[in-house]
Amino acid sequence: MSTTTRENDSIGGATLALAREELEALQLERLQWTVRHAYEHVPHYRQKFDAAGVKPDDIQALADIVKLPFTTKEDLRQTYPFGMFAVPMADVRRIHASSGTTGRPTVVGYTQQDLDNWATLVARSLHASGVRAGMKVHNAYGYGLFTGGLGAHAGIEKLGATVIPMSGGQTARQVQLITDFQPDAIMCTPSYLLTIADAMEEAGIDPRSTSLKVAILGAEPWTNEMRAEIERRLGLDAVDIYGLSEVMGPGVAMESVTTKDGPHIWEDHFLPETIDSETGAAVADGELGELVFTSLTKEAFPVIRYRTRDLTRLLPGSAYPAMRRMEKITGRNDDMIILRGVNLFPTQIEELVLGIETLTPHFILELTREGRMDAMTVRIERHPSIDRETCEAAAVVLQKRIKVQIGTSVDVKLEEPGTLPRSEGKYKRVYDLR
Ligand code: DLL
Repeated sequence: MSTTTRENDSIGGATLALAREELEALQLERLQWTVRHAYEHVPHYRQKFDAAGVKPDDIQALADIVKLPFTTKEDLRQTYPFGMFAVPMADVRRIHASSGTTGRPTVVGYTQQDLDNWATLVARSLHASGVRAGMKVHNAYGYGLFTGGLGAHAGIEKLGATVIPMSGGQTARQVQLITDFQPDAIMCTPSYLLTIADAMEEAGIDPRSTSLKVAILGAEPWTNEMRAEIERRLGLDAVDIYGLSEVMGPGVAMESVTTKDGPHIWEDHFLPETIDSETGAAVADGELGELVFTSLTKEAFPVIRYRTRDLTRLLPGSAYPAMRRMEKITGRNDDMIILRGVNLFPTQIEELVLGIETLTPHFILELTREGRMDAMTVRIERHPSIDRETCEAAAVVLQKRIKVQIGTSVDVKLEEPGTLPRSEGKYKRVYDLR
């Protein structure tokens, strides 16, 4: 990969060239610093480490990380709002928060150095997607407390590209600005890009005719089938960006446009593990497990063995050989639907839906209870330009495939075009009416 010196600096490129052993030496040094920093400055971490009988000096090798207790959302709840901050408030330059499903939001903080590192990692991620200095990037991640908008924004600027800070929503306006400003790249959730593509068609614009060459999509699970659908409809490269507020925000991991084989974890800043969600025991690389992260450079909000609830496998690096990859996320522990004893993820339905050409990608899942039995209905919009009969037949095919491939009976209900809720950011796919 050829980069100019300036570009190389803006993406923190020096560590990308390290051999695996050199990277691991750097990780150990940074892990030791992080553990000591957390122990000395966050009473909650100190109490947990003491209760587990572990001291910062016990971390002599990367493998010693298993001696440390996990951190969960519950720890953040107990210390709400600022109890996990490891620097004086005067050194915190920015706060973000995620709404969460219930009660108190999760609050995170950044020092100036943390913000600089974050911007560098987003710049690096954009570089991996093919974006370069001088290009224009339409940023449709929501601005505000959500880390998506401002996180992406700083990275675009850091790379030397031009940011169009559109934020989420106002879909007609998005279409107009994409048409008028001619951006090279767009950043948003995959479901929202579909909303934008629909709006283009409604406005009489062929989604394949725009200036967009690459879409940097994340913040929600999406499948390779969805990638194919998006690439076909919009005539661009769709790549996966991963991250979470607790660990930083967007740019914890990023897929290369040259390989499209799952996000590379930027391991010079984050140490990944995968564990068995039930027992907490380590799961070998290549096996499916819950992803756990330890931050290696964060000052304001260090996280030690943070349980993400995201399920994936750790894979060897490809485009960036020293950094491990993760398989495209299939779902979160808490998205899993248990339907009459069968476990399923919304992404499995997405995969099957997109495998049938005459169906649209617009569907929601409704869970109901009939008597003592749980039931699920896939409500899916029919294709506006395909006759109803063909769509009905496709719905029956979907129902059969779900039965055969997932092993559970569901209802499939065809809806009229444009009647289901459209995504404006993270899409709510599952409605539990039980
Ligand atoms: O969604 C950060 C982000 C913004 C990532 C923009 C990418 C682009 P949170 O709101 O804290 O942060 O949500 C984090 O979203 O634990 C995953 O469950 C999910 N998620 C994020 N990226 C992906 C992805 C942002 N590429 C939670 N694929 C995470 C699947 C993702 N799920």
